[in-house]
Amino acid sequence: MNTTKEFDILVWGASGFTGRLVAQYLFNQYGENGDLKWAMAGRNQEKLEQVRDQVADKTVPLVIADSDDEASLKALVLRAKVICTTVGPYVSYGSKLVAACVTHGADYCDLSGEVQWMRTMIDKHHDAAKANGVKIVHTCGFDSIPSDMGVYFTQREAQAQKGQRAKRIRMRVAGMKGGLSGGTYASLSKVMEQASKDKSIYKVLVNPYGLNPSDQQKGADRPDLQSVIYDATSKNWIGPFIMAGINTKVVRRSNALSGYAYGKDFRYDEATISGKGFKGRIKGVLGALPLLIMTAKPGSLLKRFANRILPKPGEGPSKDQRENGFYNLRFYATLEDGSAGFGKVTGDRDPGYGSTSKMLGEAAVCLAKDKLPEVSGVLTPSIAMGDALLDRLEKNAGLTFDFK
Ligand SMILES: NC(=O)c1ccc[n+]([C@@H]2O[C@H](COP(=O)([O-])OP(=O)(O)OC[C@H]3O[C@@H](n4cnc5c(N)ncnc54)[C@H](OP(=O)(O)O)[C@@H]3O)[C@@H](O)[C@H]2O)c1
Repeated sequence: MNTTKEFDILVWGASGFTGRLVAQYLFNQYGENGDLKWAMAGRNQEKLEQVRDQVADKTVPLVIADSDDEASLKALVLRAKVICTTVGPYVSYGSKLVAACVTHGADYCDLSGEVQWMRTMIDKHHDAAKANGVKIVHTCGFDSIPSDMGVYFTQREAQAQKGQRAKRIRMRVAGMKGGLSGGTYASLSKVMEQASKDKSIYKVLVNPYGLNPSDQQKGADRPDLQSVIYDATSKNWIGPFIMAGINTKVVRRSNALSGYAYGKDFRYDEATISGKGFKGRIKGVLGALPLLIMTAKPGSLLKRFANRILPKPGEGPSKDQRENGFYNLRFYATLEDGSAGFGKVTGDRDPGYGSTSKMLGEAAVCLAKDKLPEVSGVLTPSIAMGDALLDRLEKNAGLTFDFK
């Protein structure tokens, strides 16, 4: 969308754990009275004022909207080119906002990793968003920008340097340090709760092509790795990667929406490297434990234990944990002629919050300010923003992209 509006960006959920980091990032990076017009939005004026005092200053305007109040959402959408939202779980609070953006014309980005909800948004809104020229972009955080843009970049460089595409990419998490927020845990719990009650949701979650257009959900990829195995590609033991269930589906949707720029036979998977030898194998088993705890069956003893020890909404990793966090992702590519390529993506903060807040902030600025591909609908980051986002992530958000 490129209309004249009061704000370029409204950050909705700015009083929450991640939202305040996004607001702080925009304030530090772009100020308030410069080229970028933006405001903090939330449901509670007093709380927003308190947070604004901590992360910015009084020059940042505040806007009030509640997820249950459609009139307030419409007003939000009419005032901004881009709505950037961290109000989650999105399945609980996000649907009316997406509908308002599509109907009243604002581009949109979020941090959703809730596959079942994104499926619903695609089914309900893709065609209308396309018709109205609106970009709805989910997954603009650690899930799934590094994966989606990492594959986009690896494919772009394989073409540029070797004149061919990668027919297969295996993403391996080589290193990662960070923590979890209450909001993310609440969102994950909501997905598990819904999937345990509704088989059709479970089917979407286990379908490798669950986010593809509904008539294009077949392909050679299998469900994500669930065990610890030896990986001949990275020459290490590997285990499950907690974000694979989201990221791999986003990458496959990007391929489908691009008209299969990576090829109809393109294959993609993700896993975590745990190391070499016996030690690597044991580390792989131990590394899968947090995943087991976080995704424990609703109502089980393990779930009650998880609820007790994991963070509550509004809580998350400390400043120190965020600043000392990092991630390092490898993209092992097999090109069409059988030769190997190697892509690498790194981030300079903890994945879930320090880095995520910069990625989401830059995605919002990119949607508001950059010349982007003429494409609309319910999109992925690489399809909506492509090279413009890559550029911003490298220049401003502390990510590096490399290909050999
Ligand atoms: N993809 C990623 O990499 C990634 C990373 C981080 C977070 N996330 C996702 O981002 C979301 C937020 O996480 P978080 O830890 O920041 O959560 P949080 O601290 O609980 O923040 C949630 C925000 O939503 C607001 N909110 C709740 N109900 C609302 C309503 N009815 N109307 C308007 N606003 C409402 C809260 O407002 P109050 O402050 O007034 O309570 C708060 O600002 C989660 O869905 C999480 O999964 C994803």
